[in-house]
Amino acid sequence: MILLDHVTKIYPGDKKPALDDVSLHIEPNEFVFLVGKSGAGKSTLMKMITKEEDPDMGKIIIGGIDLDYIKRRHIPHYRRRLGVVFQDFKLLPRRTVYENVAFALEIAGMSTREIKHTVPKVLELVGLTEQANKFPAQLSGGQQQRVSIARSVARQPKILIADEPTGNLDKLTRTEIITLLQKINDFGTTVLVTTHDETIVNNLGKRVITLKNGRIVADQKTHGIYRLDGEPEVLIDDSPKAPGFALKSEQRTTITSAPKPKAKPTQKPTIKKPHTPRKKVA
Ligand SMILES: Nc1ncnc2c1ncn2[C@@H]1O[C@H](COP(=O)(O)OP(=O)(O)OP(=O)(O)O)[C@@H](O)[C@H]1O
Ligand SMILES: [Mg+2]
Repeated sequence: MILLDHVTKIYPGDKKPALDDVSLHIEPNEFVFLVGKSGAGKSTLMKMITKEEDPDMGKIIIGGIDLDYIKRRHIPHYRRRLGVVFQDFKLLPRRTVYENVAFALEIAGMSTREIKHTVPKVLELVGLTEQANKFPAQLSGGQQQRVSIARSVARQPKILIADEPTGNLDKLTRTEIITLLQKINDFGTTVLVTTHDETIVNNLGKRVITLKNGRIVADQKTHGIYRLDGEPEVLIDDSPKAPGFALKSEQRTTITSAPKPKAKPTQKPTIKKPHTPRKKVA
């Protein structure tokens, strides 16, 4: 569903790559958290998928489409096949909740009849039926994010990517939004979410991919935990004892292991001796 093969991205003017030889494979209907410190490359990876940025090296295949072969004029059409959710909602301020969702469907070429049928259903899914006629400014942050999610999933995308969707929300609302993303995932959408929220990641027990300096340093297929400062190793939890193993076993067999970090010359850890000044011999 989402395939990155040895992807490297160096922004013009930067010395270090924002993504450094990243390979990953996300299967249909997976729910994946992408974590890493600020500057680790999470948003860049998302932008590779939306084709907002192009890689300098490597291949990206999304939903069977090789992004190298999408013509510039077809990019908006390609993006409409994805659901994309941002931290800052990006709603149309002069349109109501209903209109924000309807407009997205209109752009996608849905007929007025279909739109009238679809919007109430989607608003119900995200719990906003009663807010349909309100404008974004009249909503709480969590409700605005729900509108944004409604707009993204109304076209029933196969993939939903959300870059820090809970970044501007309080703790309780963050959990609600993630629960909503899980519900969308349960309906059959592959979901990739970046977050800095350790509690949410640790409570959900999903696959967790960790980026560090543009490289994947851990890929925990199930029951992932939020750990940013670990050694650069690939963590793959294949233990049959892992909770969720039985449920995910079918899916897991098809997941290819993430590549090991580039071989570095093996170095023995050097332990520095504390400097002790020599005693003067009298
Ligand atoms: N448009 C750009 N031009 C130049 N460098 C960029 C650009 N966008 C990102 N970078 C650099 O690429 C690296 C990765 O940035 P990215 O935004 O992907 O990080 P991130 O993991 O999303 O961080 P955060 O958690 O703060 O959102 C950083 O070193 C950043 O400075
Ligand atoms: Mg980011």
